[in-house]
Amino acid sequence: MSAFAQNYWYVAAWSKEVGRTLVSRTICGEPIVLYRSRDGQPVALADRCVHRRYPLSLGRLTDDSIECGYHGFVFDCSGTCTFVPGQDRVPRTARVPRYQLVERDKWIWIWIGDQSKADPRLVPDAHWLDDPAWASVEDMAHSPFRHSLLVDNLMDLSHETYLHAGLIGTPEVARTPFTTHVDDERDQVTFSRHMEAVACPPFYEKTTGYTTPIDRWQDVFFQPPAFWVNNVRVAPHGTPVGPRGDEGGAHVKIVHGLTPETENSTWDFWAVVRDFALDDDSVSQALLTMNREVVQQDLDALTVLEQVVAGEPAGTQELSVAIDAGGLAAREMIRRISR
Ligand code: FES
Ligand SMILES: [Fe+2]
Repeated sequence: MSAFAQNYWYVAAWSKEVGRTLVSRTICGEPIVLYRSRDGQPVALADRCVHRRYPLSLGRLTDDSIECGYHGFVFDCSGTCTFVPGQDRVPRTARVPRYQLVERDKWIWIWIGDQSKADPRLVPDAHWLDDPAWASVEDMAHSPFRHSLLVDNLMDLSHETYLHAGLIGTPEVARTPFTTHVDDERDQVTFSRHMEAVACPPFYEKTTGYTTPIDRWQDVFFQPPAFWVNNVRVAPHGTPVGPRGDEGGAHVKIVHGLTPETENSTWDFWAVVRDFALDDDSVSQALLTMNREVVQQDLDALTVLEQVVAGEPAGTQELSVAIDAGGLAAREMIRRISR
């Protein structure tokens, strides 16, 4: 059995990464080659030639087909082999798997499991990435640690206080209780932490101009296995909240597409979107720089943790406490959907 939840959409790439050159990427342990056909449609094929398994990504893209770089078999964008050098007949079984893709919100999503089940309606909503009402900065991190470590990390933001002090963490984050909600029907885990009259960390002070004290909300939505959003509201303390429930102040969404690469490595596609200072490049630059630092701090810590976990005997015990409620719920849900 595969180690990964199969029948889900995973972010394969940023749209801008995929063009008329062949991109090789391993997703959920599967080697994939990505490119665009001449009409601009993204294509994903297994990155293994049927002949002697040479990676197709090392071949040549001609029109909409890939010519294998080893002995020249040609595959069209459905994965069907259309030419075998030295003979007229192409064996009927000569084809490589093609994967379903959906390009939406600047992301190219891939369906790794049973291709007949790939339903575009199941692609998570990340419209803020490509919505004129929001400004977005974005990047990705190749992360040399298992997917579950990144899920644990994102589902317990109390670590901001310790790992991200001076950037986004303040003492109040770890100190403030939160509520967790598990929706087993829709396979979603959410948690909320609303802080009142707390310190404004540099991440928000430098970008919104607000100063301490602020009201700061973290409303996290996780759709296992691959999509996570922290819906943030920051506002000068006491700013009224209207009938919609989150009016006033500034809103930021920190968005992650979490894609397993192998059992011990992960692609982290992230964006920070905001609904203020939309045209202010200095704000974009500050958010990009600071979030890269935050991601790097997580990356450094989790790279260490991967070595620790990988070296432990199976069944080594952990101790879980109140702050782990969201993480444990997410783990349980991922276990269930991976069966
Ligand atoms: S390995 Fe691709 S043609 Fe031989
Ligand atoms: Fe973090």
